Amino acid sequence: MSQIIDTNNLPKHIAITMDGNGRWAESKGKLRIFGHKNGVKAVRETVESAAKIGIEFLTLYAFSTENWDRPVSEINALMALLVSAINKETKTLMKNNIKLCTIGATDNLPSKARNELLEAVAKTKGNTRMTLILALSYSGRWEILNATKKIIADCINPNTITEQTFQQYLTTKNVPDPALLIRTSGEYRISNFLLWQIAYSELYFTDTLWPDFKKEDLEKAILDYQSRERRFG
Ligand code: FPP
Repeated sequence: MSQIIDTNNLPKHIAITMDGNGRWAESKGKLRIFGHKNGVKAVRETVESAAKIGIEFLTLYAFSTENWDRPVSEINALMALLVSAINKETKTLMKNNIKLCTIGATDNLPSKARNELLEAVAKTKGNTRMTLILALSYSGRWEILNATKKIIADCINPNTITEQTFQQYLTTKNVPDPALLIRTSGEYRISNFLLWQIAYSELYFTDTLWPDFKKEDLEKAILDYQSRERRFG
């Protein structure tokens, strides 16, 4: 890479919509699940690279509310992949001082996946180098609706509700908003991801399909971010 990342101007929080696993597999004449398997490799490389660069929060859109509409066989395969990846990688997360969190309706996940996640979250909760947030059974509208329901249940006086109050009811309550949102696979949509939190995020789209996303692609996105002047407007 000819340009150097400025470590004094890093996006504190990067969110990624990992898209294109299916197309990647189909382009190779393989089943979609082959794409997801290779997507896990890209997750590993991205998590490692982000931590090395000095990113503090990384949120990955791993399973959306809409993904429940996929064929049961694909959902089961994705859940099995999630279980095995968490099981295998918790040691690496510990070694690298990375904390794992989840956002989303994780109660809807199969119990095996839920338990595996709970265990990994508990084990890594004291880690401080980077926080890895997996969005699972997540959607932005679900989150906003949920926050609204909780505010009503707490009988908060409407006149006292501010953006800060609302933020405290979101699943990302102690996490800074993403400075940079990356989406792979040449799709130019938000697709219900972190709707509240991306109000001022810089958006970066790449044609690279998720399984092909490498350290260099992450660096390129960060360099692009650093070339922009953030106006928050
Ligand atoms: C999008 O590709 C990807 C997903 C729906 C799932 C992403 C999940 C993983 C990479 C595995 C999760 C594992 C961990 C450890 C987080 P797509 O299927 O929508 O691809 P397409 O748009 O080409 O059909």
